[in-house]
Amino acid sequence: MLRLQGRTAMVTGGATGLGFAFATRLHADGARVVIADLRGAAEAALKLDAGGKTAQGLAMDVADEGSVQAAVSAVASSYGGVDILVNNAALFSTLVNRPFEEYSGEEWMQVMRVNTLGPFNCAKAVAPHMKAQRWGRIINVASTSALKGLANMAHYVTSKGAVITFTRVLARELGAWNITANALAPGLTLSDQILKNDDHLRQFGEAIRRSRAIQRDALPADLVGTVSFLASEDAAFMTGQTLCVEGGAIFV
Ligand SMILES: NC(=O)c1ccc[n+]([C@@H]2O[C@H](COP(=O)([O-])OP(=O)(O)OC[C@H]3O[C@@H](n4cnc5c(N)ncnc54)[C@H](O)[C@@H]3O)[C@@H](O)[C@H]2O)c1
Repeated sequence: MLRLQGRTAMVTGGATGLGFAFATRLHADGARVVIADLRGAAEAALKLDAGGKTAQGLAMDVADEGSVQAAVSAVASSYGGVDILVNNAALFSTLVNRPFEEYSGEEWMQVMRVNTLGPFNCAKAVAPHMKAQRWGRIINVASTSALKGLANMAHYVTSKGAVITFTRVLARELGAWNITANALAPGLTLSDQILKNDDHLRQFGEAIRRSRAIQRDALPADLVGTVSFLASEDAAFMTGQTLCVEGGAIFV
């Protein structure tokens, strides 16, 4: 039997980049997959299952509680509820890197709204179903930048620090229902948008590669196994943790 047979996974921001790689792996593991994204979700879901039986795409804005609640209700109707939540959506590849004093308060709040309010809205929406069935997996996508204090992306790096802290709180608050919450912290990874807009690569690429014990670029394929593991029964007794998958750039 496939590892995630019978489970339903929702991947936010799953239409592109790392999110689509996570969705593809969870689907290959046997899960029904819901791709929830601002745009392109339906098309992405069709790539997983052209027949639309085991993959569904929903337009959803993680920063809008009503939109998230509506999407989770739609999943409840089609698949029974969300068993595995991958909080992947974030403002990241489109951000412009600058010293912190050069960001406006509005830019700061926009990143916080998507990257911290988003995971909160999604966890809140899926928790009732997970609690009712006394089983659930929440996987929050953080970033090793939060542990390093990476310069010139203050709003983003700070938001990912909040994601790590929120993960620990979720683990404490949901453990009694057999629901785990863990964070995956990747380093700079060659996702679609990073390859298209290589500002991040030009600024940080070489230094980041040199900082790794395994000195090469990271690919989406380097991350998907960790998400699959955290979603599975094998990770049943692991919660509140942050798994850094960055070729040994950081040891925590
Ligand atoms: N690629 C990297 O180097 C890297 C490194 C560390 C962490 N991460 C994290 O991994 C995740 C994915 O990274 P990526 O490189 O694929 O990012 P990306 O910017 O290419 O993709 C983000 C996805 O989130 C979606 N999204 C943005 N705002 C949304 C909203 N309000 N509601 C719903 N969906 C929304 C976008 O449409 C897009 O599909 C992010 O959380 C990012 O912070 C990425």
